[in-house]
Formats: sequence, C-alpha cells, structure tokens
Amino acid sequence: MKRIAVLNGPNLDRLGKRQPELYGSETLADLENQLRDSFTETTFEFFQSNDEGDLVSKIANLAETGCDGIVFNPAAYSHTSIALRDALASAGIPTVEVHISNIHKRERFRHHSHTANESLGVIAGLGLKGYHYAVQHLLGLG
Ligand code: DQA
Repeated sequence: MKRIAVLNGPNLDRLGKRQPELYGSETLADLENQLRDSFTETTFEFFQSNDEGDLVSKIANLAETGCDGIVFNPAAYSHTSIALRDALASAGIPTVEVHISNIHKRERFRHHSHTANESLGVIAGLGLKGYHYAVQHLLGLG
C-alpha cells in the first residue's frame, strides 16, 4: 500500500469558516474523509499546523519513516518560507503543491512560491479537487 502525506499549513484548520468565497464551505475533515473514500488502497497521513517549524519537522520525519508522496498546501508559508523549501529539498520525496484558490489571480505577493521550486508541479485554483488530482498523480508515479 502506498503512503501519501497530506500536509496543510497555517489557517487551513479554519477551512469551511475562513473566507468561504475563496476557499469554499467544506472543512479539512470533509477533505480528509473524501480522500480516504476515493483512494481506499492508500494509507494517508494527514497533518495540519499553523507553525512553520512543525511543518519542517514533519517533512524531516516523513523522510526518515518513508513516504511515497506529499500533497502540500503550505498556505501563506509558500510565499515566505525558505525553511520549508529546504526541508522539501532535503527530504527528496515527490511533492505536489496545492492551492485551493488561484494564487495567480490574487495579490502580487501570492504569485511566487518558494516551495513550488522543490515540487513536481503545482495545482492552483481548482478548489479541494486539486488535492484529489495531486494524489492521483503521486499514485501514478513509480
Ligand atoms: C492558499 C493561498 C495562500 O496564498 C494563502 O495564504 C492560503 C491558502 C490556497 O490554498 O489558496 O492560506 O494556499
């Protein structure tokens, strides 16, 4: 069974309540249930943190324990965090970055992602479906 980690960064614990016009009305728990239901042959590890260091440590831990792929929405840290970029580079785990909203249609400061440089690809603007497409892609690798 393949093991896929789904990591979510700051403020995504408030999915469903937070700016629903941008991020929709479904919660993080809804997303996790949908992924479990859609990919029954996959072992998921779900992790959300509002703390940059916790996310860095989680990626390092996945590198140690072994993981077939990471679906990563680093949220605002995408635009600021060299530490998360370095963590991905050091882990060497195939990663697809997901943004629920289309960051390219939004403020300029959201257009650049440091973490995207260490990802296989980026899905932005397709809502929670982006996470499904990312898992599909990672399961098709290798
Ligand atoms: C986000 C986009 C980021 O710019 C923002 O800071 C988020 C969520 C998205 O999923 O669309 O928190 O990553």
